[in-house]
Amino acid sequence: MAHDGSNPAIEDYLDRAARHARAYRAGRQPIGPTAAVASLRERFCLPLSDHGRSGAEVIDALISAAEAGLVGNTDPNFFAWVMGGSNLVGVAADWLTSAWGQNAAIFQSSPAAAVAEEAVESWLLELLDLPRESSVGFVGGATTAAFVCLAAARAEVLRRVGYDFDRRGLQDAPLVAVFLSEDAHVTNFAALRNLGFGDENFHRMPSDGAGLMRLEDLAEALAHFDGPKIIIAQAGHINSGAFEPLQEIAGLARRHDAWLHIDGAFGLWARASPTRKPLAFGAESADSWSVDGHKWLQIPYGSGFAIVHDRDAHRRAMQKTAGYLNAAEGDGRCPSDYTPDLSRRAHGFAAWAVLRSLGRDGVSALVDRHCDAAALLAERIRRIDGLTVLNPVRLNQIVVAARDPADEEPRISRLAERLNARGDIFVRTALWKGRTILRLSVISQDCGTEQVERLGREIERHWDLISATGSPPQRVSARCCDVAGDGG
Ligand SMILES: Cc1ncc(COP(=O)(O)O)c(C=O)c1O
Repeated sequence: MAHDGSNPAIEDYLDRAARHARAYRAGRQPIGPTAAVASLRERFCLPLSDHGRSGAEVIDALISAAEAGLVGNTDPNFFAWVMGGSNLVGVAADWLTSAWGQNAAIFQSSPAAAVAEEAVESWLLELLDLPRESSVGFVGGATTAAFVCLAAARAEVLRRVGYDFDRRGLQDAPLVAVFLSEDAHVTNFAALRNLGFGDENFHRMPSDGAGLMRLEDLAEALAHFDGPKIIIAQAGHINSGAFEPLQEIAGLARRHDAWLHIDGAFGLWARASPTRKPLAFGAESADSWSVDGHKWLQIPYGSGFAIVHDRDAHRRAMQKTAGYLNAAEGDGRCPSDYTPDLSRRAHGFAAWAVLRSLGRDGVSALVDRHCDAAALLAERIRRIDGLTVLNPVRLNQIVVAARDPADEEPRISRLAERLNARGDIFVRTALWKGRTILRLSVISQDCGTEQVERLGREIERHWDLISATGSPPQRVSARCCDVAGDGG
């Protein structure tokens, strides 16, 4: 702070960062990264300096180091992964969150942050139409959300068989079995591993063409296991966007006294749209749900929600008590009672701002626009000679493959390379069920009809060229390279 009360930091680097952020979001940059790792290292991996530098110099250096290595998931032509595009109201609220420097650990460390989470908790339960008494932990993403929910599940299913997990821990506990599709999102397995589960505790159900477990297999597997059980069901498979039959699975869970967790990282948002809600029918009967805020809801990155029906089980799994963390009579909700961390970012502010700015209609329109655009794109791709769409497109995900699997790998990869070559579209391939697929996600916030029609045209143009010139392809390694031979 200067003598006259002004703070040079504000003009020097806060305004500088804001000016850059404004220009970044208003401009059109290449969507994929253009810098090779070596050049990023050259800029970032400097010797640790003995002396500090001015904020302005540091912010300028950060911008110039990062720019060529940024990925444009804020661009409406980004189809590469299931990623949100950072809603600008959320970005503004996120700036304030940082500027306010709040620690949303306990109510008293930031009453505003605690009450913002309280408000968002009830809005989320309403939007997703989940039991209103459920509790929500605000975490960094769906992986951590699954970790929180499954921690509550682990202790609770053990408690139901008379084992006090909180006192005795895991070492001596009865075996807990987890039932899930072999094709469930990898982060569920990661969360389970962190909770002390290993491969032998997983009943990996064989998956169908959409990555889902079959109800008969699940029923049979449950019938053959007598101990405490957890089922993980999918609302929105990462590739196909498909939903397991949640109502029937919830019925099985009830019959077998199993805890049902739903991984709805993006798919659970179908419940916010009256037209798509039937896809996730029955989800309300589960015991817990992991959902992302940074995907479909477009909250800036670092937003996930761990939702648990049994608030006490949630709190038992996460609560930390210490003499210095005391609460006063009349305090509001304690945020870290529902999360693994104590000191934490005030996730509620950006979530509050995005939900206030979208409203119920805005969220449902966002989901509908993306689902409608995905259906349109799938229809367009199905009409392209030699390409096929492997999944029924009911949500936002499209799995594109060659109609003739011979030489599929080089041709589909070549297609992706060509689409990405100009830097104004970004797609990715994936390996799935032994095939190379073009995996398109329609989810970036401003994506709609215009962008998918253009992508459809570009897919057709490049596929025709690939088909006409035949394989084998010349591989194009960098996204930003020109593709020779087709005029761009
Ligand atoms: C179905 C599903 N579950 C879980 C996750 C993990 O979410 P996050 O990356 O936010 O931790 C993802 C991410 O893509 C997902 O699609």
